[in-house]
Amino acid sequence: MRTQVAIIGGGPSGLLLSQILNQAGVETVVLERATREHVLGRIRAGVLESGTVATLRAAGLGDRLDREGFYHEGCFLTDGDLSIPIELDKLTGRGVTVYGQTEVTRDLYEAQDAMGTTIVHGVEDVVIQEATGTAPFVEYTLKGARHRLDCDYVAGCDGFHGVSRKTIPEDKRQEFERVYPFGWLGVLSKTPPVSHEVMYSNSPRGFGLCSMRNAELSRYYIQVPVGTDPNAWSDDQFWEELSLRLPKETADRLVTGPSVEKSVAPLRSFVSEPLRWGRLFLVGDAAHIVPPTGAKGLNLAVSDVYYLSEALIDALKSGNETGIDGYSDRALNRIWKAMRFSWSMTTMLHQFEGESPFEAQMRRATLNHLSRSETARKDLAENYIGLPY
Ligand code: APR
Ligand code: PHB
Repeated sequence: MRTQVAIIGGGPSGLLLSQILNQAGVETVVLERATREHVLGRIRAGVLESGTVATLRAAGLGDRLDREGFYHEGCFLTDGDLSIPIELDKLTGRGVTVYGQTEVTRDLYEAQDAMGTTIVHGVEDVVIQEATGTAPFVEYTLKGARHRLDCDYVAGCDGFHGVSRKTIPEDKRQEFERVYPFGWLGVLSKTPPVSHEVMYSNSPRGFGLCSMRNAELSRYYIQVPVGTDPNAWSDDQFWEELSLRLPKETADRLVTGPSVEKSVAPLRSFVSEPLRWGRLFLVGDAAHIVPPTGAKGLNLAVSDVYYLSEALIDALKSGNETGIDGYSDRALNRIWKAMRFSWSMTTMLHQFEGESPFEAQMRRATLNHLSRSETARKDLAENYIGLPY
């Protein structure tokens, strides 16, 4: 087979890149290891920056998002009973949209089907060849047969555990990592959300987060030690612990119920540089991972896709390679700022085992400052709604 852009990975990054490229008349083939059901079965975050919403709308994915997404003018930080409203819209003129990543991915698959693009599910042993040559190709196995896909460029949208990043020789890439000594135990429940906006809670017992998917479906998280088995936590234990981490008046309003999904996610900050290796370009989780405290994972993947799609269309349509030559630096510029914000939110809102009382006081003082300084809240708001592309 031959195509213009071979896309490894059919998650949100790969699908959105395929959508935007095909809209511009660029041919693509998406190679995805898992089934579509499996990809759509992943429960992930759902806070969209205004830049992400604008990019999805421009790609023809605004209908259901505008109908079913919730526009939030703010969010809350709490510290014990101290509640700090972060008035995103008032402070910056923009808010965020709560719309599950699973729904974004579902809309992308439907839009791709409507366009009749090529998405191959169930591929194995993907190998990217000749990335530094002028005629790269991708080899893969499908139903026991080995296939070859010739292309002009390869987009590595295959997440943290994919093959694309590992195709770049170790001595040609630099990895930066911070693994946090805790994870998030998350619960999805068919209960009304306790707060009309996302609430991030610091407490002496650890972090807590109250979020939602819609008026009847809520998403909650609590900080737990690394390696925690989600099945070791009964629903009652979860609700009990969450309540102890929220302001009393919020905890009193919490509607509990059976969990429909319960899982533990590790927290890490990770960046691999550069994002380009010849005609191979890394996108999204293949190149960077943020802890979910800043709600930046999907939003960073979308800005990568925005930059790369523009560059590839330019290179393939007009032979202008300025964009692809600048893609890595341009994307990394925004990635590192979001990396810093996600790290600062994580450090400000979690308990670190073995930390000194002084460090704990630094966290409280930071939150206290936020509660009194509009400038500090404005800085946080600017980062939370998404820095310009
Ligand atoms: N060959 C083909 N497909 C692969 C391979 C491989 N070797 N390895 C992984 N994949 C597929 C996975 O099955 C997955 O569907 O690549 C896809 C990568 O998707 P994601 O991990 O969702 O990464 P990305 O599309 O960049 O989305 C980033 O996902 O994890 C969240 O917080 C993150 O919101 C961010 C978003
Ligand atoms: C979620 O709704 O799952 C969610 C919201 C905000 C975050 C992380 C996750 O920062």
